Amino acid sequence: EVYNPNGKYRVVSTKSMPGTRWINLLIEQDCRVEICTQKKTILSVEDIIALIGDKCDGVIGQLTEDWGETLFAALSRAGGKAFSNMAVGYNNVDVNAANKHGVAVGNTPGVLTETTAELAASLSLAAARRIVEADQFMRAGLYDGWLPHLFVGNLLKGQTVGVIGAGRIGSAYARMMTTSYGEFLKANGEQPVTWKRAASMDEVLREADVISLHPILDKTTYHLINKESLATMKKEAILVNCSRGPVVDEVALVEHLKQNPMFRVGLDVFEDEPYMKPGLADMKNAVVVPHIASASKWTREGMATLAALNVLGKIKGYPVWGDPNR
Ligand code: DGY
Repeated sequence: EVYNPNGKYRVVSTKSMPGTRWINLLIEQDCRVEICTQKKTILSVEDIIALIGDKCDGVIGQLTEDWGETLFAALSRAGGKAFSNMAVGYNNVDVNAANKHGVAVGNTPGVLTETTAELAASLSLAAARRIVEADQFMRAGLYDGWLPHLFVGNLLKGQTVGVIGAGRIGSAYARMMTTSYGEFLKANGEQPVTWKRAASMDEVLREADVISLHPILDKTTYHLINKESLATMKKEAILVNCSRGPVVDEVALVEHLKQNPMFRVGLDVFEDEPYMKPGLADMKNAVVVPHIASASKWTREGMATLAALNVLGKIKGYPVWGDPNR
């Protein structure tokens, strides 16, 4: 799909992205915009090299792509100066390789903070109140009347919420889960549910009733949640992951879910996306969704717009907004 075919700068997007604002911004600044129309979800390095071709000024890419040495070399050979991930996370991008080849890297922070935190909050509640399990039960036609034991779950009021990775998203989640609920209770003359305070990792694991993971993925956070840390957590705790799959040792998690039926998880991300480790799909105490934490219309259009501005900024010499190097 090509927009403004005679534009001076060639900008390639490896995927169609929501909204038209990002396309218009690029067209207004004399860019020819090419959107890959390949049907397959995950593009290979070879697919992307073909898209880059002989002349390419900038690329907007996706977190499913492996932006390493080979692609940055190809982009640089084609005269490219800019790459933006349409994501805040950039563990799929080798920033050193990009620097080496003179390509600036951008990401899309900010616009997805609240949307992602809302999904983490949704997963916390869905896991606590067994919403997916109950929904499946209804659809299977199994409901034959109210029962005292039917889908009894956890009450979150008064519980301790732990956040691992209290950056933009983790802090927004903490606000949603504590302060806003607390303010509501205060308005009715009660005390807030809980106070925010710093704690050690061990303390969070031991004391929290709900733990939400929001760190970046790097060597220090790979398998941060493993057999040992799971064993430290409360038997009826809820674990939520909207960060990156490999932060959790998924094999150990499946085993823990099997051994501890009252332990629940809400997962948006997986270790080997798009796959789940064997056994996870059978676990009733797991709520699983396909990496949709940033999937609100406003956010996805914002991410596309920021990604376009990142690339455009570099081509035209403006500062790159979401620049992990800054
Ligand atoms: C990100 O932005 O890193 C999310 O994983 C997708 O929005």
